[in-house]
Amino acid sequence: MSLVIAMDGPSGSGKSSASKGVARALGLRYLDTGAMYRAMTWWMLDQGVPVEDAAAVAAKAGDPVLESGTDPDAPTISVDGADVSGPIRTREVTNAVSAVSAVPEVRARLVALQREIIGTGGIVVEGRDIGTVVVPDAPVKVYLTASEQVRAARRAKDLAADPGATVTVTQAEQARRDKLDSTRKASPLTMAADAHEIDSTELSLGEVIEAVVRLAKEQT
Ligand code: DC
Repeated sequence: MSLVIAMDGPSGSGKSSASKGVARALGLRYLDTGAMYRAMTWWMLDQGVPVEDAAAVAAKAGDPVLESGTDPDAPTISVDGADVSGPIRTREVTNAVSAVSAVPEVRARLVALQREIIGTGGIVVEGRDIGTVVVPDAPVKVYLTASEQVRAARRAKDLAADPGATVTVTQAEQARRDKLDSTRKASPLTMAADAHEIDSTELSLGEVIEAVVRLAKEQT
């Protein structure tokens, strides 16, 4: 397998910006698996599927056609041919995504799709279970963290257009989502035993990218 860089960690740890930056620096493709769980969630909400009902979600998990573009300069995500990159970032989707992504049938379908896209490698993949489940033999595994306050402040900045998304509200919603993501039965967020932990609380984006690029170069 050629290079696969697995980037896992909780929300707001800076995974997306760092993963895209690393992919650009090394000429690799980029896959945002969180966007796939968000797209599945958007579709369930759009179809009126009760997202807290795991059996209802499981019954529909095979239906939407998801497509992910892997250019780090212009990542795309579509459902049934429609671009959903905007709608998947709303708070409605963000607050429903943990329930949908805890359903084993959803995970089985998306992990299979992710492995298809990863193929023989040459890609940076960000998510929660990349180093533990999706590509357990990835040559480079990073677990990116940051303090809860810094993560909430970053998320609130992303949601600046939403007047309800104050730092306090965002921090509470994020804590709830992290708890659900880390305690679910199917592939919870955990650090792989062989992952390198990078705490980005005090680091600039450039420093995080540099650290991951250095790890990648050590492996190749
Ligand atoms: O990275 P993100 O915040 O866009 O991810 C959205 C949600 O998707 C996250 O709360 C948990 C879920 N997710 C997952 O279960 N497994 C992944 N590999 C990626 C995301």
